[in-house]
Amino acid sequence: MALRTIRQLGDEVLTKKCREVKEMTPRIRELIEDMKETMYDANGVGLAAPQVGVLRRVVVIDVGEGPIVLVNPQILETRGEKTEDEACLSLPGKAGQVTRPAYVKVEALNEDMEKVELEGEDLLARAFCHEIDHLDGHMYVEKVEGELHDVVYEEDEA
Ligand code: NI
Repeated sequence: MALRTIRQLGDEVLTKKCREVKEMTPRIRELIEDMKETMYDANGVGLAAPQVGVLRRVVVIDVGEGPIVLVNPQILETRGEKTEDEACLSLPGKAGQVTRPAYVKVEALNEDMEKVELEGEDLLARAFCHEIDHLDGHMYVEKVEGELHDVVYEEDEA
């Protein structure tokens, strides 16, 4: 396993549409493990493959309930609306208000290429939408209502 460099806003790779994963290979497994390690190292709640420069439809998420791996994820259903601050590892130190569905159901493949359905509310619903947007070359900053603002992380305050 290895940490990968997180690409920052302005990097062209973050604007590209990612390709589906057709079969699980040692290379994709390694990508997934590296993405988890990179996400935890950066204290993030999600990371999409293009953020480490790989244009494949792979996402990792952990909202504090353990790691979730989504391969070729698709949103099946959404309900409600919630407007909250959102941030991204590709734009550290910033956040902005984004409206997302309050409930999201996704279908994806797991690391063993088995079909899974997952439901999320609030932060998890937001993470599903945010990360899937990355796979289509979109960043949350395109959806921010009002201005981006600076974020002070708690660990910096200690
Ligand atoms: Ni992001």
